[in-house]
Amino acid sequence: MTDPSPDTGAKARAPLGADDPATVIVFGNEKGGSGKSTGSMHVTVALLRLGFKVGSIDLDMRQWTLTRYLSNRAGTMKNDGISMPMPVHVFLSRSDKPNRKEAEAEDRQRFEAVLKKLRAESDFVVIDCPGTDTYVGRLATGYADKLVTPLNDSFVDLDMLANVDGKTGEIIKPSVYSEMVWEARKQKAARDGGTLDWIVMRNRLSSLAARNKQEMERVVGLLAKRIGFRVAPGFSERVIFRELFLRGLTMLDVFEIGDSGKPQLSHVAARQEVRGLLNSLQLPNRVPTPHSSEPNDEAVETPPVMGDKGHEE
Ligand SMILES: Nc1ncnc2c1ncn2[C@@H]1O[C@H](COP(=O)(O)OP(=O)(O)OP(=O)(O)O)[C@@H](O)[C@H]1O
Ligand SMILES: [Mg+2]
Repeated sequence: MTDPSPDTGAKARAPLGADDPATVIVFGNEKGGSGKSTGSMHVTVALLRLGFKVGSIDLDMRQWTLTRYLSNRAGTMKNDGISMPMPVHVFLSRSDKPNRKEAEAEDRQRFEAVLKKLRAESDFVVIDCPGTDTYVGRLATGYADKLVTPLNDSFVDLDMLANVDGKTGEIIKPSVYSEMVWEARKQKAARDGGTLDWIVMRNRLSSLAARNKQEMERVVGLLAKRIGFRVAPGFSERVIFRELFLRGLTMLDVFEIGDSGKPQLSHVAARQEVRGLLNSLQLPNRVPTPHSSEPNDEAVETPPVMGDKGHEE
């Protein structure tokens, strides 16, 4: 392992077997551009660099950002002749059946087949949801062991979670996304008695706008108690998070492959933020599956480029 990683307490458990399926980590928020794909990619690579086997699923059938991100990563490996760990990645395309019920049944069947396979083969499965309400996004949320909701530090984004009184700052009622998570929790409990650990991660935190930041912190804290989520330390607003996409890199790669240019303190801090997020997920203690204890530097399946049809593994 090239990257000393946070202590996730990966000690005392046997490798995963069929009766011990992978932990499912879903990134979801029906708010565009909050950092779901950036978060998915960083958590995926962080787990890979700890030696775990990771499956990833892209449910954003319009943008396929995570797929494009991984495709860029494969391109960088090929062009630069370097090796980096890769997940087993699957992207799903929408059913083209004209009848809504039939289309949903097909979407469900495809998603569940892919998830079942990846859960049996991996230590962790990371799912990137689209920034809109979709049938398959809701379905995935109902399978989440960990649901991570990135939230831009703005009351516009917070409105997806709760309506807040503009005058008093009081929470009026949970909003549409919180209600969806409530339903997902019920679904999960009914299916297998499982629980869903919901984590809200504030993203793109600015060093400016201190008043807004404090007020957000206060309301998010109140809301956490009211609708049942934990708050994770987020990522600061950093240009590097935007730049990494084209090379398919994360903050956990740039130092290892010497791609960060002149080492900057802010890059070290950004890497710490990613590790902080991983720690705050409180993932179960696991030992990596034996074959995944080193980064995979063998042939890597290149994710398809935009415009190709999705596939199921
Ligand atoms: N901490 C950060 N600092 C700076 N830019 C960021 C940060 N996090 C995300 N971004 C940028 O914000 C934009 C949106 O991020 P991302 O694509 O991860 O969001 P998303 O929630 O997946 O969006 P969508 O809902 O469209 O799928 C991207 O340009 C990304 O590079
Ligand atoms: Mg996205």
